[in-house]
Amino acid sequence: QPSNLQMGGNSSLRRADCRAKGGAPGFKVAILGAAGGIGQPLSMLMKMNPLVSVLHLYDVVNSPGVTADVSHMDTGAVVRGFLGQPQLENALTGMDLVIIPAGVPRKPGMTRDDLFNINAGIVRTLCEGISKCCPNAIVNLISNPVNSTVPIAAEVFKKAGTYDPKRLLGVTMLDVVRANTFVAEVLGLDPREVDVPVVGGHSGVTILPLLSQVKPPCSLTLEETEYLTNRIQNGGTEVVEAKAGAGSATLSMAYAAVKFADACLRGLRGDAGVVECAFVASQVTELPFFASKVRIGRNGAEEVYQLGPLNEYERTGMEKAKKELAASIQKGVSFIRK
Ligand code: NAD
Ligand code: LMR
Repeated sequence: QPSNLQMGGNSSLRRADCRAKGGAPGFKVAILGAAGGIGQPLSMLMKMNPLVSVLHLYDVVNSPGVTADVSHMDTGAVVRGFLGQPQLENALTGMDLVIIPAGVPRKPGMTRDDLFNINAGIVRTLCEGISKCCPNAIVNLISNPVNSTVPIAAEVFKKAGTYDPKRLLGVTMLDVVRANTFVAEVLGLDPREVDVPVVGGHSGVTILPLLSQVKPPCSLTLEETEYLTNRIQNGGTEVVEAKAGAGSATLSMAYAAVKFADACLRGLRGDAGVVECAFVASQVTELPFFASKVRIGRNGAEEVYQLGPLNEYERTGMEKAKKELAASIQKGVSFIRK
C-alpha cells in the first residue's frame, strides 16, 4: 500500500520502488522541512549524491511539488514525498540519515534565540518521530537555535530511551564554509585549499574560529584576526540583512548541509579519516555539548577531538563562548524537562 504521495505518471508501470526495496546500493535519507528555503536546494543536491539510494522529502506544506520536481532528475536515488504530520512516520521508517532544516528563519533585528519558541516545538515533534521510527538513524540538526535544539533533541531521545550521543550532530558546517571563504579572501588563496576549524556553537560569540590553526599554516595580524573573527561570527546576520526580511542563508546552507551529510554517509560506509566540525555531546570542555572536530564513522561521531593549543585571543573568545553556550544548552534541556 503506497504510504507516500502519489507521483505523476502511471504508477503500475514504475519499477523504481522495486529497485529501492531490492536493496539498491546506498543509504536512505530523509529531509524534514524539504519544501523550505534550505530544504529545496538541499533536496536537489541530495538527489545528486551517489551515496543516496532512497530520498524521503517531508514537509507540512508543498512537499508534493518539490517531490515531483526533484524526482524527474535522472540520478540514482528513488524520491518519495510525504505531507503533514500523519505521514511523518512513513517518511522516517527505515532511514539511515535524517536531515532537519524544518523551522522558521530569522528576520533582520532578530537573534537565533528569538526562534526558540517556535522551533523548539517543531524539533521536539520531529525527534519524537525519529525515536519511534528510526532510532538508529544519524541525525543532522540544522534548525536554529542549534545551541538549544541539539540539547532538545538529546532530551527527547533520552526520554524515549533511544539516545546515542554519537548519532546526534548539530550542523555547524556553514561556519566552517564561511571561515574557509573569508580566510582565503584575506590570504589570496583558493578556498578549497583552506581549512579553518570553527568550534564552540552556532550563534554570535559562540562561533569561535581557531585562526591560529588555519591550514595551510599562515600568520595573521591582530587586525586581520579581529576582522575575520567578527565576519565569521556575523556571517548569518550579513545574509539576513542582505535578504531584508526574506529569510536567512539558504543556498550556502544547503551546500554546507550536503557537504556535511556526504561526510556522514562516507562515515557510515566505513571510510577512514572522515573529520568535520559539528556540535555534539562532548567532554572537550565542562559543557555537555560543544562544537569541535569529530571523526565520523559507522556509528556517527565516533571520536571528538580536543581543541589543540589556543592563543590568548582565542582563550578570551572561548570564555565568552562558554558563558553564552551554557545558558542556551540549559534553555533547551529545560524545555523538555520542565
Ligand atoms: P523556511 O521557512 O524557508 O523553511 C522551513 C520549512 O520548514 C518550511 O517549508 C516549513 O513548512 C517547514 N516546517 C515548519 N514546521 C514544520 C514541521 N513541523 N515539520 C516539517 N517541516 C516543517 O526556512 P529556512 O530558511 O529553510 O530555514 C530553516 C531553519 O534552518 C531555520 O530555523 C534557520 O534559522 C535554520 N538555519 C540554520 C543554519 C545552520 O547553520 N545550522 C543555517 C541557515 C538556517
Ligand atoms: C546562519 O548562520 O546563516 C544561520 O544560522 C541562519 C541565521 O539566522 O543566521
